[in-house]
Amino acid sequence: MIGQLKGRDFISTQDWSDEEIELALQTAKELKFMFKNNIPHRYLPDKTIFLMFFDKSTRTRNSFEAGITQLGGHAHYIDVSTSQIAHGESPKDTGIILSSYGHAIAIRHDLVPGEGNKYMREMARWADKPVFNMQCDVDHPFQTLADLMTIREIFGENLRGRKIVVSWAYAPSYAKPMSVPQGLIMLMTRFGLDVTLAHPPEYKLMDEPMRIARENAEKAGVKFEVVDDMDAAFEGADIVYPKSWGIEELFDRPEEALKIAKKYQDWICDERRMKLAKKEAIYMHCLPADRGYEVTDAVIDGPQSVVYQEAENRLHTAKAIMALTM
Ligand code: CP
Repeated sequence: MIGQLKGRDFISTQDWSDEEIELALQTAKELKFMFKNNIPHRYLPDKTIFLMFFDKSTRTRNSFEAGITQLGGHAHYIDVSTSQIAHGESPKDTGIILSSYGHAIAIRHDLVPGEGNKYMREMARWADKPVFNMQCDVDHPFQTLADLMTIREIFGENLRGRKIVVSWAYAPSYAKPMSVPQGLIMLMTRFGLDVTLAHPPEYKLMDEPMRIARENAEKAGVKFEVVDDMDAAFEGADIVYPKSWGIEELFDRPEEALKIAKKYQDWICDERRMKLAKKEAIYMHCLPADRGYEVTDAVIDGPQSVVYQEAENRLHTAKAIMALTM
């Protein structure tokens, strides 16, 4: 299993077949068992991964750094503002050079629609080692893989007939990337879940992830619907995943965006809304959450919340992809 996908990039879950995603999930499950039981698993001794960050992170950075250490390797953290990338060095030159020094390059570049995914794919064209997407403008594949792992731990592997709601929620902090909801609708439609996407009219997702989600749903024989009513979306849900995201055209105009967002301050996940979902429904969020805005403390700290299990699974899925490809 280890090294079975050696050399493969992981930029979008859509780039991997169902069988490869299954292999990643199975590997993550085994690595989680070994981690929990203190069984050594140094599958990548002396290997180096470069972690390039154009944006901030808690979970992603630390799951990769802890993960590669547990696998016997080492991570170099690169704040790109302190590298020559800030002076305009190209993804081609950076990719060729870093891949000659180590064994994988991981990139977070998520704040500008139209830029991050393009940058990663350009680097992957030139780097002769795997390139990983630690979140771009289009997808956050390590997050959604951990989400699918978490959902299966709770509901089992056969998810047919279960409903996940991916809903916009209000947050005043900043225009959050669109990549998590986009990644969720693309991945969950492939693995048996009926997907309901809910958002106010201004918060449309990008055309291509929407097209892929529709196509995946049709192929898998599951439902994919879009609504503009958070209450209606929550009705009968097994999984609710409410989070904020920005408006594609307004990422460079935050004040204008916040003015629009303020119209929808009632898009919050609270106890009343949780009651609209099934009794055994779970609450998910990739974190960080804007407590008191996207979600109440009572929900995120309540018995239906699985956010810490979900965050922990970021470690095991990051390790799985590294162990399979590096
Ligand atoms: N969910 C997630 O990617 O968290 P960070 O932004 O802290 O990495």
